[in-house]
Amino acid sequence: MTDDGTGGRGIGPAGCGDGGAEGADTGAPAALRADGGAVDDVALDPWGSSTVDDYRKLFEEFGIEVFEEVLPRIPSPHYLMRRGVIFGHRDYRPVAEAMANDEPFAALSGFMPTGDPHIGHKLVFDELIWHQERGGEAYGLIADMEAHAARGLSWDEIDEHTESYLLSLIALGFDPEDGTLYRQSANREVQDLAFELGTKANFSELGAIYDFDGETEVSYMQSVVTQMADILYPQLDGPKPTVIPVGPDQDPHMRLARDLAGRMRYFGVTEAYASFESEGAESELLRRAYKKREAYADDPERPRCAEAAQWLLAEQKTAEAMGGDAFHDETTLESLIQKVTNKLENAGKEPLRPRVRFLDRNATDDAFEALIEAIDGEKRVYEGHVDAFGMDREAAEELARDIELEHGGYGFLPPSSVYHRFMTGLTGGKMSSSVPASHISLLDDPEEGYDKVKSATTGGRETAEKQRELGGKADECPVYELYAYLLSGDDDEFATEVYEECVGGERLCGGCKEQAAELMGEFLEEHQEKREEAKELLEDLDIELDSDRKR
Ligand code: TRP
Ligand code: SF4
Repeated sequence: MTDDGTGGRGIGPAGCGDGGAEGADTGAPAALRADGGAVDDVALDPWGSSTVDDYRKLFEEFGIEVFEEVLPRIPSPHYLMRRGVIFGHRDYRPVAEAMANDEPFAALSGFMPTGDPHIGHKLVFDELIWHQERGGEAYGLIADMEAHAARGLSWDEIDEHTESYLLSLIALGFDPEDGTLYRQSANREVQDLAFELGTKANFSELGAIYDFDGETEVSYMQSVVTQMADILYPQLDGPKPTVIPVGPDQDPHMRLARDLAGRMRYFGVTEAYASFESEGAESELLRRAYKKREAYADDPERPRCAEAAQWLLAEQKTAEAMGGDAFHDETTLESLIQKVTNKLENAGKEPLRPRVRFLDRNATDDAFEALIEAIDGEKRVYEGHVDAFGMDREAAEELARDIELEHGGYGFLPPSSVYHRFMTGLTGGKMSSSVPASHISLLDDPEEGYDKVKSATTGGRETAEKQRELGGKADECPVYELYAYLLSGDDDEFATEVYEECVGGERLCGGCKEQAAELMGEFLEEHQEKREEAKELLEDLDIELDSDRKR
């Protein structure tokens, strides 16, 4: 019907990497590159139909991290990770660590039931299943409220597709008895959590993130806080590293969710050097001033704020105060020093001293009292915060979370995410649910799937002769993508062989497509058998497949 963020959107062939230099070269020639050709702008819009043409920009502009960098920390990574299909992440380390140490973690993703599940969704299904097999709590949810509010689907349509997504997820290996499946509309806990999270977000913020305006329906906005609640749902019974596998179009949701997780916390923990507040570069400057106290303090045991201010002003042009080229922007440096020295001068005789600061954000009085009580060593209590001397940041974070949990707070950890590439459509361009020939539905007849692969565009040359001479362009070939993303399964050797034979000119498109088409037919046949078997399992679960809602 329509493109949905979890995988329905394609990338242009350029996005599939033309062998750029700093790509995710995971060692296997078959690995796809994370750097697309430099094309157009990137817009991350959960409901837009924009494609991601340049994955590199996602790293630079949005701060998505390169997945390859966490790869070595993951015990036997999934083939989608090894092949660079999963190309980016936010904060995946805690999840990888929990996995490696047999500690609790969770994986959750959601699907808008706007059409039939297709091979793009299979990527996410596989990611959930993989995390479940590695000991994670796994959650699959049907974003029916979002489909109704943001896409205008009727509840009848939603019901029909809901069942279909769940069947495919189970058929591919999701264990519903061990994991959790739910639909947003039937999950009271999620809606209650959404309501709470809604107390920490306002209209201007949603407007800025999602381009909402005065015409945006209230239920549409409600579907956003519902998604925030989905993302934090695995932590309702206690904080744990949680990964959300999604397409990069969902990144705005992730940023908001990570932010809201923090805003719900009882305490914020920061580092400080005096009673006044400082942040970022200001703190950095204060840290340096503290380090240099021997140089200016009458009594280096008790450097005074005013002394530090004088030193900073005097040294402001010297490389030492600037810490080499760490603050190279002159005007910023000047105004920064101005700000910091003002604060220092106001603090006057107060000693400059490093400390961790607990800010009271949402704590109950009892919790704040208990925190103060629990701080060992020297501490100083202020109106909305308490400073602890001789405690490191990590210990402080832990203490803050413990007290919060003991006093009825959630103690949320910021949720992590992993991002996969969108598949290229079989007809070139983007894979779109609304163009049947561009994608393969998990419900397509095996023969239909076979035919679609047979008529797919390729990265082949005009003639067989040229192909033998120059080799095919596997990096731009939707058929090669099928091999890498799906048909080779866990078999890297096979994927590599296809790649090398193609670019080496030994493989011609006719035979290559025939092989892919047959494999696709087999996959669909087997998958559909398993869907039949999954029906029984699904019936046993108490998940409402007939929503009974009007409209
Ligand atoms: N917004 C997602 C989509 O467009 C669906 C979704 C809802 C989701 N809740 C979620 C995805 C939680 C990941 C996690 O498909
Ligand atoms: Fe694509 Fe196969 Fe042709 Fe290579 S040989 S371009 S992988 S269809």
